[in-house]
Amino acid sequence: MNQSLTVLGLESSCDDTAAAVVRNGSILSSIVADQTALHAAFGGVVPEIAARAHAEKLDHCVEQALDTAGVTLAEIDAIAVTAGPGLIGGVLSGVMMAKGLSAATGKPLIGVNHLAGHALTPRLTDGLAYPYLILLVSGGHCQFLKVDGPTSFKRLGSTIDDAPGEAFDKTARLLGLPQPGGPSVEQHATDGDETRFAFPRPLLDRPGCDLSFSGLKTALLRQRDALIADQGGLHAQDINDLCAGFQAAVRDVLTEKSRRALDAAPDITGFAVAGGVAANTSLRHALEALSQARDIPFVAPPLALCTDNAAMIAHAGAERFAMDGADDLSLSARPRWPLDQSAPAALGSGKKGAKA
Ligand code: KG4
Ligand code: ZN
Repeated sequence: MNQSLTVLGLESSCDDTAAAVVRNGSILSSIVADQTALHAAFGGVVPEIAARAHAEKLDHCVEQALDTAGVTLAEIDAIAVTAGPGLIGGVLSGVMMAKGLSAATGKPLIGVNHLAGHALTPRLTDGLAYPYLILLVSGGHCQFLKVDGPTSFKRLGSTIDDAPGEAFDKTARLLGLPQPGGPSVEQHATDGDETRFAFPRPLLDRPGCDLSFSGLKTALLRQRDALIADQGGLHAQDINDLCAGFQAAVRDVLTEKSRRALDAAPDITGFAVAGGVAANTSLRHALEALSQARDIPFVAPPLALCTDNAAMIAHAGAERFAMDGADDLSLSARPRWPLDQSAPAALGSGKKGAKA
């Protein structure tokens, strides 16, 4: 890779507006403006509100990213932008902004797949060499990918319905806990008994690495309603035990499917995890133990780089630019853009847009 490349990255595919400057694999700045407050009253991301907020915030984020990095636009070598997959209005806001910057400055434009940004993060944080296995696990994504190069991915399995973060968020909603659900559920699970309620372990009876999480939410709803019918409401300990049981089911399923994905990808340099759900301590520990037992390096990037950010887009853009060169101004925004074009389409669509 060209070691003197300074790349400005833009990200606006979900509900975070982000800009970052990355030079030679070092993050000079990474600005993320989240929209949680704007969507709070609606219980989920509203695409139109997200798109408008991105359009309003992107230029501020770019200014802040350049200021924090201490570089001018003239010192940027290329502009990388998420061109999909995601909520199309948001993706368009970013692509239009990047095209404007590219047209005005003459700097090369690089369209980046958002999922490639996540999948290449272990190279930015830990210099992980190709090929490696990654589990992307967030509110909108859940898939196992063997990463062979900047644009070369083999999908070994994915969710056929909800993403795990989505299931954590729904669980929190059903139990009256605050959003985002993952951290709330994890906190309550700490004081809970994971064995009190029986939760299914979906798709473990079927071979392969595909996953399913919507049944867990239904199981939780049934347990909750049975308790309410029986005792007239939920005690604090019931909520803790339900959270612990649910979290254990997600952890066990992801760990067992990771074991199978590792079996299916024998010649790898390491196993990485990324996405918001990778913040879950119980899951992280289980995946780390699995990797250690197999003597495979385990990489879990810091949380700020696991969740949506533009540093990963700048980095993935730099790798793509070095390999393929730039895009032109005909670059289009894509709501769907699977990383592994040969894999069959996954079913369903997450709370943050279509799954790839
Ligand atoms: O990657 P991310 O920031 O956004 C996308 O979905 O792209 O992931 C957010 C998701 C939310 O669903 C949130 O509930 C979940 O990650 N999450 C967690 C934890 N922290 C965040 N899930 C489980 N345990 C956590 N500690
Ligand atoms: Zn993401």
